[in-house]
Amino acid sequence: MFPSALATIILLAATAAAHFTVPNDDQDMSGVVVNGISYSTRVKYMRLANEALFEQSGPCPFAAYGTIIVNHTADEIVCRGANFRTGDPTRMLMKHPSIHGEISAINACTTVFAGRNMTPTEIYAAWGELSICTTSLPFHTNAESCPMCASAIRWSGFKEYIYGTTIQHNYNVGWGVITLSSYDVFQQTRQLPGYQTVMLGQILTNETDPLFSWQYNESYPCPNGCEKRMSVTRGYLGCVDPNA
Ligand SMILES: *[C@@H]1O[C@H](CO)[C@@H](O)[C@H](O)[C@H]1NC(C)=O
Ligand SMILES: *[C@@H]1O[C@H](CO)[C@@H](O)[C@H](O)[C@H]1NC(C)=O
Ligand SMILES: *[C@@H]1O[C@H](CO)[C@@H](O)[C@H](O)[C@H]1NC(C)=O
Ligand SMILES: [Zn+2]
Repeated sequence: MFPSALATIILLAATAAAHFTVPNDDQDMSGVVVNGISYSTRVKYMRLANEALFEQSGPCPFAAYGTIIVNHTADEIVCRGANFRTGDPTRMLMKHPSIHGEISAINACTTVFAGRNMTPTEIYAAWGELSICTTSLPFHTNAESCPMCASAIRWSGFKEYIYGTTIQHNYNVGWGVITLSSYDVFQQTRQLPGYQTVMLGQILTNETDPLFSWQYNESYPCPNGCEKRMSVTRGYLGCVDPNA
């Protein structure tokens, strides 16, 4: 019968998901000091990346991809971005399919630098002083790749790239992903001129993973005080901001 055939397909898909491994730099980074920056500073900025996302998109956005660009020398955020491609259409600021959080943050910084009358050479040098910090690996849910964002980070020549949740995690919890890791993209970028980019994965995943875990799982608890409600558009239980 159709329903049981469908159930079999879903079961097979779930089984396949559980056994698929996305190659990445899967390591516990707790306590690690890189470029003289303490782990507690890494945690502080990952939380600020989450907060930048909540400010722009509410406490439980469907597409929970937040990005900030940090100047660790000055200990400050230079600019922020969020994923404007998907999510609640009333909050959608842009519809361009390539404006993922990372691209949006790079655009915001370019505007800041242009406002300081910096030349293209000065702007290129500036990326080499900055760190890009994302709540998720740079990939998104639809057909656009996120090797795109990993490549944009390498083309910019950032000093550091820090992320929380991995592709593997989101694959396991039901997201459609492009299973090419940043690690693998970076491996192919060694011939680019200029700055190399240090990559630090899985920072504060205990706080970033829950932001991505409810979208395709009706049983997963909602983050940040959001409530389970039937989604009219999706036809199953999702999370909504009770104050929205
Ligand atoms: C980063 O901060 C340092 C110290 O305040 C400053 O000299 C430098 O210009 C800043 N870099 C950028 C790209 O904003
Ligand atoms: C997540 O882990 C960090 C240590 O890496 C800890 O300081 C923090 O309290 C944890 N967050 C939650 C919500 O448990
Ligand atoms: C869905 O959420 C429940 C409750 O947290 C959890 O036990 C289960 O493993 C989750 N399923 C998947 C596929 O992550
Ligand atoms: Zn992307």
